[in-house]
Amino acid sequence: MVANGVGVFNTATVRDAKGAIITDLDGRELIDFAGGIGVVNAGHSPEPVVKAIQEQAAKYLHTSFNVVSYEPYVDLCEKLIEILPHGDETKAMLVSTGAEAVENAIKIARQATGRPAILGFSEAYHGRTMMAMTLTSKIGYKIGCGPFAPEVYRLRFPNFYLYGKGMDYEAFIDQELDQLEMSTHNLIDPNTVAAIIIEAVQGEGGFNPVPKRYLEGLRNHCDKYGIMLIIDEVQSGFCRTGHWAAWQHYGVTPDLSTYAKSMGSGMPIAAVVGRAKVMDAAAPGSIGGTYIGSPVCCAASLATIKFMEDQDLNTRASHIADRINHRLHSLQQKQKSIGDVRGLGAMIGIEFVKHNDPDQPDSKLCAEIVQHCSNNGLIIISAGIDKNIIRILSPLVISDELLDRGLDILETAIIQSIENSL
Ligand SMILES: Cc1ncc(COP(=O)(O)O)c(C=O)c1O
Repeated sequence: MVANGVGVFNTATVRDAKGAIITDLDGRELIDFAGGIGVVNAGHSPEPVVKAIQEQAAKYLHTSFNVVSYEPYVDLCEKLIEILPHGDETKAMLVSTGAEAVENAIKIARQATGRPAILGFSEAYHGRTMMAMTLTSKIGYKIGCGPFAPEVYRLRFPNFYLYGKGMDYEAFIDQELDQLEMSTHNLIDPNTVAAIIIEAVQGEGGFNPVPKRYLEGLRNHCDKYGIMLIIDEVQSGFCRTGHWAAWQHYGVTPDLSTYAKSMGSGMPIAAVVGRAKVMDAAAPGSIGGTYIGSPVCCAASLATIKFMEDQDLNTRASHIADRINHRLHSLQQKQKSIGDVRGLGAMIGIEFVKHNDPDQPDSKLCAEIVQHCSNNGLIIISAGIDKNIIRILSPLVISDELLDRGLDILETAIIQSIENSL
């Protein structure tokens, strides 16, 4: 019945879900470390969010903001501007999905600069619509889907673990910044580049945080050549890293940034936020759509943000991060197959390799660990070009006790799968 191209990670079928627990049709309780791919930072079905959805649904479901405007859309834009200021004056627009936010950010950047070209990164993921898919790096997501959007160029993501083998960290960043400058001679005339788009922490690419000095260099590069810096926060936003956006850790402000996933607790809502002057460069009618910022989704998002503030989920993310890092770093000391444990805040990845070599990804081991977890009541998913990285995206409302129980299952799965592979 369901088309073959729709992938499924886990064989469980949900009956209901609350907080950090998914209960399947057989009544089996599963601890959720996947969070619906980073969507339920505020937990499954938080009560105030459900209530806000019900109340809004009873008032009106749809008018299309392009036809008859409504308060929840304006209120949500106002809230986003407050928590995600982009310089002196900020504006926002709403759509339904992360890919749609990316598409619109690119259109806005092109209109603001009058330039065609876009620079993206290796290991990037920006979605599955045509421009977003073009910007996405992993071939597995795009086989047979071309021709892709023109005027898209790619730089190497400054992933020290993967590309900095045997190098000093600072020398590696210098080298990558040199490559960025070199791209103006051997890749693309910078005066034709509208935007550079980067994930502050790569999601699908394997939870790689961009090094601070590289992001600062990217900002300087964009300023030097009049290029818009777009930071894609679809996976890393809304408390996951301990801030509303991961870029807020860096002291670097993008011209435009994109959000989706956890901003709506599962309702399809997404946003482009940016400097007012840049946002206003888009001509009326050039950004929009029938369902942009559905009133029910706006209400869900407003309630989600309030819940995140009330529960102080940014602080909670840091606490969860400490607990996870402590466990995983001590496990890494004992297990050579764990090549790297990294991330930002509670966005943490574990990379599995053979012979302690980043160039020998161990996808098989990673798949076995995911399956072992699934058999033992923990839902967890992988990431990375080679699917050799486990990513932790548990709801941030998870109790310490449940988090530890999930980590126990994960630790056992890692140890036993490594033993079985020897
Ligand atoms: C960084 C990033 N950008 C964009 C997207 C696409 O979002 P959506 O699946 O809502 O279209 C994703 C989805 O995983 C993502 O992680």
